[in-house]
Amino acid sequence: MNIENVDYDGLIPNNVGLNSDQRVKAALEKWHPGYIDWWNDMGPEGFQQSLVYLRTAVSVDPKGWAKFDYVKMPDYKWGILLAPEVPDRKIPFGTHKGEAAWQEVPGEYRALLRRLIVIQGDTEPASVEQQRFLGKTAPSLYDMRNLFQVNVEEGRHLWAMVYLLQKYFGADGREEAEALLQRRSGDADTPRMLGAFNEETPDWLSFFMFTFFTDRDGKMQLEALAQSGFDPLSRTCRFMLTEEAHHMFVGETGVGRVVERTCDAMKQAGISDPNDIAAIRKLGVIDLPTLQKKLNLHFSLTLDLFGNEISTNAANAFHSGIKGRFREDKLEDDHQLENSTYPVSRFKDGKIVNEDVPALSALNMRLRDDYVADCAAGVGRWNRVPEKFGIQFHLKLPHVAFHRQIGEFSKAKADLDGNVLSDDAWDKKKDDYLPNDSDRQFIESLMKPEFEPGKYASWIAPPKTGIDNKPGDFEYVKIAE
Ligand SMILES: [Fe+2]
Ligand SMILES: [Fe+2]
Repeated sequence: MNIENVDYDGLIPNNVGLNSDQRVKAALEKWHPGYIDWWNDMGPEGFQQSLVYLRTAVSVDPKGWAKFDYVKMPDYKWGILLAPEVPDRKIPFGTHKGEAAWQEVPGEYRALLRRLIVIQGDTEPASVEQQRFLGKTAPSLYDMRNLFQVNVEEGRHLWAMVYLLQKYFGADGREEAEALLQRRSGDADTPRMLGAFNEETPDWLSFFMFTFFTDRDGKMQLEALAQSGFDPLSRTCRFMLTEEAHHMFVGETGVGRVVERTCDAMKQAGISDPNDIAAIRKLGVIDLPTLQKKLNLHFSLTLDLFGNEISTNAANAFHSGIKGRFREDKLEDDHQLENSTYPVSRFKDGKIVNEDVPALSALNMRLRDDYVADCAAGVGRWNRVPEKFGIQFHLKLPHVAFHRQIGEFSKAKADLDGNVLSDDAWDKKKDDYLPNDSDRQFIESLMKPEFEPGKYASWIAPPKTGIDNKPGDFEYVKIAE
């Protein structure tokens, strides 16, 4: 079978030869109805019968893997797609470096691998749950379509992880696959596994910030797992990354268009002071200081997803060849790290200090550093907009110690520049750093649906180009009554 072509005939499109793997095929077919029930219950509310102009993966050829067409979301072809095999691939790092990549789960690392796959898998349906009410307040059909595209692909990512569980982990894998459909974002009894995936995504600015910051954590985790010595995981993650790029595009251009609209409205109204919040809000746009507060919130929540700065789990995952570093294959060192160190910022005696620690135990910190650099590049692109309009305002990432719940800084109260504050000082300043009730109410007041093709809500500029090169007034979603 040509790996680049996908078998579309059965219930589950795939390029993994499901037809000749009856055990796994039967397991997935058994799981399928539960998935559809979950999608109908927890997927985009109110639009399940609408026709959405979506891309579907029909190949894993990097030169052209997707086709676009109208589809009702419950009929979306959620397939199992692995990137092409790299012939003679070797384990690229850790103690098994240079050995042939594993095609089966290495027994000694079974529990570790299963846990990593389950944690990744859990984030995928979680974000669909978090975003399920947003369709109703979409600022345009273009944005609504992008939301649904992200949602169906997160659904596919769940399939990707469930395939690995069902194929390689026997009865435990089946149980985990069931549990992935049982947990619910924000549920008091059965929440999703990670904090940021139990927060609400109540408005579209939150959605754009989430796709920029939190999907980017997804990208970093997938990049690290794409390096895995367990080849089926590597190939799965490599293809997921192709889709993930669109999610970050949605976030980056989404926030960029909000900045653009705000600056444009300020200019037209002759307002040059970005802190003249009351006057700017009267224009029906989101003032830049509020945008900065949203950024502070989403960045800090997402940093928590990287876990403890110093971590034996992370060391074990690397040492065993299961989870690498960001773009491990592009790094030039011994890829084993037994004798190297890495600088970690820590909170000691009430102060933020840098300390060199064994590189193996600092891998979460290192991935987080790579993440912060990736975020900073995007923020830099946003800042070109106020510059272009001659408005003196720079969005910036807060210090990594700001507003943290996990890791070294969970006990610190720090301001946006990383100055340590007393509890009192923090309580007084908190509303300057993070969205408060009135900020939230203001944003919510702007969330009025705009469903006419080619039109956009007051607070966001149209995109530069359409999806699949469609014209400005293209009807991306045909809403069913
Ligand atoms: Fe995903
Ligand atoms: Fe994503």
